[in-house]
Amino acid sequence: MRIVDLRSDTVTLPTEEMLEAMRTAPLGDDVYGEDPTVNRLEELAAKKMGKDAALLTTSGTQANLVSAMSQTTRGDEVILEAEAHMYYYEVGAFSALGGLVARLVKGNMGIMSPQDIEQVLRPPNIHFPPTSLICIENTHNRAGGTIWSPTDVNKVYDLAKAHHLRVHMDGARVFNAAVGLGVDVREFTRHVDTLMFCLSKGLSAPIGSMVVGEQSFIDRARRYRKMLGGGMRQAGVIAAAGIIAIEKMVDRLKDDHTNAKILATELAKIPGITVDMARVQTNIVIYDVGGLGTDGKRWVAELGKHGVKAGAQELGRVRMVPHRGIEKEDIEYALMVAEKVAREIRKV
Ligand SMILES: Cc1ncc(COP(=O)(O)O)c(C=O)c1O
Repeated sequence: MRIVDLRSDTVTLPTEEMLEAMRTAPLGDDVYGEDPTVNRLEELAAKKMGKDAALLTTSGTQANLVSAMSQTTRGDEVILEAEAHMYYYEVGAFSALGGLVARLVKGNMGIMSPQDIEQVLRPPNIHFPPTSLICIENTHNRAGGTIWSPTDVNKVYDLAKAHHLRVHMDGARVFNAAVGLGVDVREFTRHVDTLMFCLSKGLSAPIGSMVVGEQSFIDRARRYRKMLGGGMRQAGVIAAAGIIAIEKMVDRLKDDHTNAKILATELAKIPGITVDMARVQTNIVIYDVGGLGTDGKRWVAELGKHGVKAGAQELGRVRMVPHRGIEKEDIEYALMVAEKVAREIRKV
């Protein structure tokens, strides 16, 4: 059966060039700082993002956690968007392991305004946990891959600095934001203190995320990464693919965005399916099948019978994410299957 896996851009496999680079990478023990390929990747990531230094981590979850732990003290309050990945999908790590308290702010399509944030900021008082960090997510996953524009980021940064707070960006897909707006990625990173981005999503590397920021922050993050069991040894095998991800895989993200647009536009034409097109800004398509009188779980199960894989969220929400390896014909096939399944559901 033909398989079109649209569950996530995390399912991308490494390219042949990545596999070859992994086989031939010069290696050393990275806990001693002696893996030349890791060192090269970290230098490249820092330069690309316009920051002092970078750190390779095992995953985006670990990258966010070491970033939060490195700029807070246990008991601090962290401001997060209400649907942030760090809050929603990271096993509560910042609370369980970082000892941090989440203060949630509802954003507009994932974007928090400085006014909304200011409303939850509390003056120092013996009753309140001190607030030390604001986390923003670019692109915002659960909002549908929406972009925080450089202006949105700058406004929150200015507010943060006025209140002596730090700003961390969960930039798992920050290159999608850059490609989506057609600007250099540094436009987004200039006004955050720290950020993480994933090598293992649309950029197609098999493993790894990068944390970037000033040198003293990276030194702390390196200790926390070790504490969390993320001190890897010949990690150059991972880093070799990461270098290719950064150097060669960014520009092609625009193909995923084009496919997402086509997918969303055509899905919206199927009676019973609704798509908020304003949210379709990058490679994520979230739509609602509630109008068909079904829920996301059943919808996904029905698509699955024809080899089309999607992600069910709450109620009628479904997510599809085009990525490398998904061609225009795969999108057409997925749409053909969606139309057929919708027709069948409407009949019963
Ligand atoms: C916005 C965002 N942040 C963080 C992560 C975590 O990355 P990982 O799955 O590598 O832990 C993801 C993963 O999908 C994500 O979408």
